[in-house]
Amino acid sequence: MLSALRKYLLIPRLIRLSSSAPKDPLTAWDQYWGNVRSTGATGDVLWDSGSDHELNGYLPKLAQLDPTLPVVDVGCGNGSFTRLLAEHFPLALGLDYSANAVERARQESAGITTAAFAVCDMTAPDAAQTVATALDNAGWAGDANVFIRGVLHVLDRKGRAAMAANLLPVVGGRGSVFLAETNFPGTPVDYVSHLGATRKSIPAPLEWAIRGLPMPGRFGAAQRAKAFPATDWTLVEDGATSIETRPLSNPTVPDVIPGYYALLRARQLN
Ligand SMILES: C[S@@+](CC[C@H](N)C(=O)[O-])C[C@H]1O[C@@H](n2cnc3c(N)ncnc32)[C@H](O)[C@@H]1O
Repeated sequence: MLSALRKYLLIPRLIRLSSSAPKDPLTAWDQYWGNVRSTGATGDVLWDSGSDHELNGYLPKLAQLDPTLPVVDVGCGNGSFTRLLAEHFPLALGLDYSANAVERARQESAGITTAAFAVCDMTAPDAAQTVATALDNAGWAGDANVFIRGVLHVLDRKGRAAMAANLLPVVGGRGSVFLAETNFPGTPVDYVSHLGATRKSIPAPLEWAIRGLPMPGRFGAAQRAKAFPATDWTLVEDGATSIETRPLSNPTVPDVIPGYYALLRARQLN
């Protein structure tokens, strides 16, 4: 009982660390990416396992996407999933609203001819036009598939709804959305404890995230149903999945956060 309660002694430290994060989310994310020194299994980025294991687990579901269409990786960060998707689609276009993330993704993807990147706030009113221009610059026009990992759970309810609405014209009649998000069923203290934080120590990539970024929420079936309403979207399938982090508790094995995935298509009215 006492040991179960001990994690709550973390609260003052969490409050102290997170109070230094910029309040504006774009400022926070851009500053975060500008400070990243290295990525992958030994890097600074909590959600970058440096492995293709998680993406390989999604491949049977991604096989339901039209493989002749490009895929747009929304909120691509340093592009680790964009690069993996570029092996399976004719083009993988990574989009992020942090210019520092896009710059880093471009550098890490040098030489990959089927990957391209652009800055885009996917919640902004002109987002669909920005996507169309970026696809055009890469030699594509028309419908595209969409891949989203670990982005919707960092947005508020309005942001999630705006992002989903902006995706309707991107996927059109032929594309699909595949999303995979963390769906941790507990408090922020439970979440950071799950990832190895104790009163005495916090794994460095987790501490970086707590210090620099807004506190994440969760994204599961309930949040998906609100953001992707049945009037606009057909749910093809959904379920539980595992989001892999950079190895934290063991030097070589990624840690795992309970997650949620869904595959959706735009409902065609008429
Ligand atoms: C947790 S990271 C995930 C990065 C990447 N999808 C991955 O799994 O490696 C969330 C990313 O979403 C981006 N992001 C947040 N809000 C966004 C928005 N409105 N439009 C585009 N990107 C956004 C952040 O800049 C950040 O790079």
